[in-house]
This record gives sequence, structure tokens and C-alpha cells, in this order.
Amino acid sequence: MTRYLIFILAYCLGAIPFAYLAGSYKGIDVRRHGSGNIGTTNAFRLLGVKLGIMVLLGDFLKGAVSAYLGLWAFGPWGGILGGLLAMAGHSWNPLFGFRPSGKGVAAGFGIITVLMPKITLIAIIVFVLVVWLTRYVSMGSVTGALTVLIMVFVFSQPFAYRVFAVVAVFAVLVLHRANFKRVLQGTEHRFGDKK
Ligand code: G3P
Repeated sequence: MTRYLIFILAYCLGAIPFAYLAGSYKGIDVRRHGSGNIGTTNAFRLLGVKLGIMVLLGDFLKGAVSAYLGLWAFGPWGGILGGLLAMAGHSWNPLFGFRPSGKGVAAGFGIITVLMPKITLIAIIVFVLVVWLTRYVSMGSVTGALTVLIMVFVFSQPFAYRVFAVVAVFAVLVLHRANFKRVLQGTEHRFGDKK
């Protein structure tokens, strides 16, 4: 019975707003600067490399730990439920009134690293290539996420993992709506540009 508490823990872990906390430490409210996102990319953009790496690690781990605990206790369905709850806690954060807050990419990266490491490697390669070519981190995230969606079918992953990919990638796309708009308008921040 107590193993069901894992899912509450996953949601709570997901809701830890590492970028917001790191920003507060530096006196910067990340919700009011850059893209306004409480995620890893905005943390790198606003807070610098050191804090950015710490936020990446925190966001990655909350996804990875949640998926790992769910997988350990309940198998693949538990793994994806733990992961999705962590993403939900991060992206529609209860601490910020459940408004869309983070885009779930770094947490999702942690989740897929635990559930499907081979596919994660392919997605990382696509992410790096797209960011290198376009200098848009958001487009790297979106194409990396779409790569995961395609690869779960190419590599005949367990049904639970396919369900995860469909739900999580749909969420990532929806959460990047503002980025798509900015790319079309030519106002999206490019990696390496001054903030
Ligand atoms: O992982 C989030 C990234 O794809 C976009 O972040 O801050 O540029 O909206 P941001």
C-alpha cells in the first residue's frame, strides 16, 4: 500500500521549482525575465552556466528519480506514471497556481534516460544538431521530443512507453506554443545571443 506514496512523491518532486529557487538566490524572478519559463533553458539564459547546470541536474533528477521509483515498484506502467506526474508537477506547478510554468523537457530527459536509454541517446544527438543548426533551444527540444515519439515505435518499445511518448510529447508541443509563435515572428531568443 505504502508504495503508492511513490506517486505523491513524484508529483511533489516535479513541483520543486529549481530554476525559480536558483533565481531567487540571485535576486532574479525567472518568471519575469527571458522567456518567463521556470525551466533549465531560462535558468542558463538568466543565471549563467553554473546555476544553469545545477538547475538542469535538479530538473533531470526529479524526472529520473520519479520514473525509477515507479518502475521499481510497479514496472513499466509505474515508471511512466511516476514520470508523467513529475512532469505535471513541474509544468502545471501547484506553487504557481497550476498555470503553465515549465516545459518539462529536462524532467522528460531524466525520465527517458531511465526508461529508454538507447532512444535517449538518439534524441540527444537530434537535439544537439538542431540547436547547432538553428540556435533555437526550443526547436531542439521539440525535435528531440518528436524523435522519442518516432523511436518508441521504430524500436517496438513496451506499450506503456508508447503511451508515455504520445502523452508527454503532446504536452511538450502544447507547452512550446509561445516558442513557435516567436520563431515565426523572428523574436525567439537564439542560443549564444545576449539576453
Ligand atoms: O526546455 C525548454 C526550452 O525548449 C525552451 O525554453 O525558456 O526558451 O522557452 P525557453
